Amino acid sequence: MLKIAIINGPNLNLLGKREPDVYGKENFEDFLAQLKKEFPQVSFTYFQSNIEGELVNAIQQYGFNQDGIILNPAAYTHTSVAIGDAIASINTPVIEVHISNVHAREDFRKISHVSAKVKGSIIGLGLKGYQLATNWFLDQAANK
Ligand code: DQA
Repeated sequence: MLKIAIINGPNLNLLGKREPDVYGKENFEDFLAQLKKEFPQVSFTYFQSNIEGELVNAIQQYGFNQDGIILNPAAYTHTSVAIGDAIASINTPVIEVHISNVHAREDFRKISHVSAKVKGSIIGLGLKGYQLATNWFLDQAANK
């Protein structure tokens, strides 16, 4: 069974309630339940934190025992050298996901400490980005 860890950063625990015009009306728990149904061949682990160091710990923890990590570092994308370094330190490939199109928003969101360290990024396609990332990891595993 393919093992994928989803790691979400600060304020993503408020998805559904938080700026629904930007991030949609669905909460992540409901979405995750759907994702698990859609991909019964994948074992998902989910971690969310509002605390930078806890995200670094999670990247280190899952970085050597999962087949893939889907990471949305949220606002820490734009500020965290430590999260960028953590991604560079592990073996597991990481896909960066952003729900909103960060390039179409404020200038400070155009900076990423993460993008150069990941396999690839899916930006601006809503929660669908997590599904697309899962499909990519499945394709990779099938073509090994
Ligand atoms: C986000 C984009 C970030 O700029 C923002 O700080 C978030 C969410 C997204 O998924 O669109 O919290 O990562």
